Amino acid sequence: MAGQTDMKLIKNGVRLDGRKPDELREVKIVAGVLDNADGSCYLEWGNNKVYAGVFGPMECHPRHKQKADRAIVQARYTMAPFSVNDRKRPGYDRRSTEISYIASQAFERVVMVEEFPKASIRVDMQVVEAHAGTRCAAITAASVALADAGIPMRDMIPACASGKVNDVVVLDLNKEEDNYGQADLPLAIIPSTGEVVLLQLDGHLTPDEFEQAMDLATSGCMDLYEKMRNALDNRYGGSA
Ligand code: CDP
Repeated sequence: MAGQTDMKLIKNGVRLDGRKPDELREVKIVAGVLDNADGSCYLEWGNNKVYAGVFGPMECHPRHKQKADRAIVQARYTMAPFSVNDRKRPGYDRRSTEISYIASQAFERVVMVEEFPKASIRVDMQVVEAHAGTRCAAITAASVALADAGIPMRDMIPACASGKVNDVVVLDLNKEEDNYGQADLPLAIIPSTGEVVLLQLDGHLTPDEFEQAMDLATSGCMDLYEKMRNALDNRYGGSA
């Protein structure tokens, strides 16, 4: 939501990229793409491109971070310098620290951390091309990578944003909509229980619009969930 404008982002019910308000961008998910990680995933979502790699469970370092009765999930979100228009300074910044933290919290809700006292499960999410919605893309990819690594989980977590542009509630904002829209609401859920494990809101929505945005993002998450399961089926021949 860098700046709202009068820019026409929807004409006759059609968005600039040709989608209807309730349509997702195209999503492609491939599980098990990295030889050097215990589990991995590559995800394309519109023009977003993300890799996720999982390592562990392993002994947690530094030791003062260990929990005597459970594992911790150490998720790390980074954007490559070439992932955005203006070269991004490499390394951690406030935004990636925030996204890493909320992703760790979300994964600790589904990973059976109680089975691995004092351990750490490392989840690395690397955005190689960014066109809005990368936190959702990264969390979705990392969920598949966790499953690919065989980490015991209650469920996977799909994540998808909805928002508001030109006073219309829409699913899955693209770059222009993210830049010039009125609201952005990333959501991640546990599909089997409907629990919300991540909810953020940038911008303003009325209570009715909020309800609509939650419904749209939830349906987007359920669509993604199917694609995540298909990606694992493709890798494991339907036994995942
Ligand atoms: O990517 P996401 O929508 O989860 O997060 P955001 O903070 O709302 O960023 C929206 C978009 O802004 C990103 O997907 C990138 O395309 C862009 N961005 C950028 O160009 N340079 C940055 N340092 C951070 C974000």
